[in-house]
Amino acid sequence: MTLRPLTLFVAAATLLFASAHAQSTVRIICGSVGDQTELCRQQAEMWAAETGNRVEVLPSVPGSDDRLAIYQQQLTAGSSEIDVYQIENIWPALLADFFADLNEFLPAGYTDEFFPGMIQNDTVDGRLISVPWYGDAGLLYFRTDLLEAYGFNGPPTTWVELEQMAAEIQAGERAAGNASFWGFVWQGAPYEGLTCDALEWIYSFEGGTIVAPDGTITVNNEAAAAALDMAAAWVGTISPPGVTGYREEDSRGIWQAGNAAFMRNWPYAYALGNSDDSPIRDLFDVTVLPAGPTGMNAATFGGHSLAVSRFSNNAEAAADLVRFLTSYDVQADRAKRGYNPSRPAVYEDEAVLEVVPFMGALFPVFANAVQRPTTITAEAYPRVSQAFWSASHAVLTGQSDGATALSQLERQLEQIRGRGW
Ligand code: GLC
Repeated sequence: MTLRPLTLFVAAATLLFASAHAQSTVRIICGSVGDQTELCRQQAEMWAAETGNRVEVLPSVPGSDDRLAIYQQQLTAGSSEIDVYQIENIWPALLADFFADLNEFLPAGYTDEFFPGMIQNDTVDGRLISVPWYGDAGLLYFRTDLLEAYGFNGPPTTWVELEQMAAEIQAGERAAGNASFWGFVWQGAPYEGLTCDALEWIYSFEGGTIVAPDGTITVNNEAAAAALDMAAAWVGTISPPGVTGYREEDSRGIWQAGNAAFMRNWPYAYALGNSDDSPIRDLFDVTVLPAGPTGMNAATFGGHSLAVSRFSNNAEAAADLVRFLTSYDVQADRAKRGYNPSRPAVYEDEAVLEVVPFMGALFPVFANAVQRPTTITAEAYPRVSQAFWSASHAVLTGQSDGATALSQLERQLEQIRGRGW
């Protein structure tokens, strides 16, 4: 009998101890291209080790539109299977209803050290839908060794220059015995990535942003048509015929094998191209994409954020994982692997700039990147983008010319707008 209070005390203490160290299992779906899922796994496991929680990392499918379809399936079913989602920064408005307001979980002032524009993008009706993880902007990759060998002083500054340089280097490399060599690789498959590439061509021709911020459909114009016709002429000349089926990783495959003079891609390809086993290690650099006829450059703004599902049974732990992954140290580490931080201070971190100098040099490119018309078209954006990439693809594959495709696209966009944006 005398032991009873002590037994009770021990039981209560055990319970208290257990709840203070309650383990949550947080499931995160992350990755898009390159080594992203692996990197995400390593960093999520660091969080697990630090906090005593468990983490399960689910790999994502590579294509942005396929990924969106899977996410929508999970979320509309109210599934609690996945706690943290890596989302594109074009989706917060579209998926806002399915995600928790992270303001309720993160420490006060947590977002103060992020780019305000990115936080604004991820905030819908005052709710913080996701925390920006990294930004993206289209870049021109070029082979420094080949430019030098062919007597060029620097990378092309206009599309016309790029065409000339690509053709000359391609002819030379083929004559020297590399039959698989191409001048320029990019993303021409019918998917979200083509929307990004085609927007860069059109915007650099001063052909606008498909739909203006006030909702006006602007895409049917001569400059935009000329931009698409320009790209169509690359297919089978300076770019492989198969480019109309290429996504990011297809272009990187050709490029990193040493079989292209130029590549359009996101920053992630920088660190991979310089990895130990890369044939082009230290033989390339990056710069702003070439300008159109009036001297205008364009880089499409992309990027990814982390969101917590409203249906999560571990929202608190899930939000803590988001906090950890978007922290300064983790972002600095990711920056060295080519992922542009969402915290401006990391761009001045000397240890980072030593590994990825372009991040400092090209800061204005990232800061001035052109947005896809997601804000104005909101929930209709996936349909707008699909109509746009389909029209662009028809031009690239020679089924249509720029002017015809864009006048048809204008009618399609009017129909989409008719259903509301
Ligand atoms: C990159 C960009 C994203 C874009 C996608 C297209 O992941 O960050 O914004 O939509 O590529 O493939």
